[in-house]
This record gives sequence, C-alpha cells and structure tokens, in this order.
Amino acid sequence: MYCFFTKTLNSCNIVSNDLPNDSQRDIFMPELIEILTPSDIETKVSGMALSISKDYANGNLVLVGVLKGAFMLLADLARQLTVPSQIGFVGVSSYGSDMISSGRIIVTKELDIDIEGKDVIIVEDIVDTGLTLQFIVNYLQSFNPGTLRICSLIDKRERRKVNVVVDYACHEVSEGFLVGYGLDHAENYRHLPAIYHLKL
Ligand code: IMP
Ligand code: MG
Repeated sequence: MYCFFTKTLNSCNIVSNDLPNDSQRDIFMPELIEILTPSDIETKVSGMALSISKDYANGNLVLVGVLKGAFMLLADLARQLTVPSQIGFVGVSSYGSDMISSGRIIVTKELDIDIEGKDVIIVEDIVDTGLTLQFIVNYLQSFNPGTLRICSLIDKRERRKVNVVVDYACHEVSEGFLVGYGLDHAENYRHLPAIYHLKL
C-alpha cells in the first residue's frame, strides 16, 4: 500500500497498492527537508538528559509525557537519565488534522500516575502558541505536584501567544511545520527517526 499526500486535500489518501512512479511523485509528494538527523537528535537528547540529571540529583522525579507526540523523546530521555524516574502519560488534543492549533484543547487521556508532592517534568514534543502547554500546566497543577517544569523536543517561537517557560529544550526553531521523531501531520510521519520540515 502506498500513501500519497494531495496538495488540495492536505490529507493522506491511499490510492495505490504500488509505489508511485516519477511523475506521480512530482505531483503528489510533499517535500520533507531534514533539519535534524538521528545522530543530531541523540546528541541533543543526551545534553538534555545530563542537565535534568544534574538538576534532579535529589529529586522525586516523574516524567509526564504528552501523547502522542512525545513518545519517542520520553523513551530516549528516560533511558539516558542517570537519576531514577517514574513515568506517566496524559493525552490532549487541539489540532485535529490541521496545521494550526484550534485553541480548543481537550483531555483525551487522563493523567495515569500520582504526582502529588513529586517533582514533575512535562515531556512535550513541540511548543508553538503555548496554549496546549498552558492548559496542561493548569491541569497538572490541580494534582498538587511539588514542583513542575517543562521540557520539549522543539521550542518553536514564532507564533507564541502565551508566556510559558520551556525549562529544557532540545532545539529551537522560529517557524515551519515539523514532522518525524513523534511529530505528526494528520497522524503521519511520527515513526521517522529524523526530524523534517514539511512543505505541502
Ligand atoms: P500549541 O498549543 O500551539 O503550542 O501546539 C502544541 C501542539 O501542537 C504540539 O504538542 C503538537 O502536537 C502540535 N504542533 C505544533 N506545531 C507542530 C509542528 O510543527 N509539527 C507537528 N505538530 C505540531
Ligand atoms: Mg503534542
């Protein structure tokens, strides 16, 4: 099965059981420009793990991954920390299959771990307007964590609408829509081991 993206529909359409030929590629395939290789990502995640391990040497650390985008970062980060951590997840949704946050954020999966009095780090894939993180911070504060910080794979600055402080970021960009290493467009590309700028 082969999955095409059409420029008109901006959605994934399975149109063929065969690989596309060259002319079909020119018409339908979106452009993926690699901005971070798997090795770049590994270096950046290691740096982040080092900082967090130093800061939480005496902590009671809980990593709360934001589904689904943070699943790869959380898995790699947790394995590189030199301090113990507990792992929880929360699910939120704001985008649907669009490229701009709707601003209407809903919890799709409730927090699944006790964080009361603990040192919590939210693990997010990308901060754009900041609205999603602001919502998650408020949601998690209602469970009375001891401390609450934010780490994100990507800190995208251009469209920030609210003042959320990203305490740890692997990489900063000013603009563009990114996919890969957990980041999706309409649920596609999450599996890619590198990070790409997606041009439809
Ligand atoms: P915000 O509420 O505008 O900060 O958006 C945050 C959420 O939107 C992230 O957790 C992502 O799920 C999604 N998002 C924002 N920018 C991108 C992007 O460039 N690629 C993929 N997902 C994105
Ligand atoms: Mg996300």
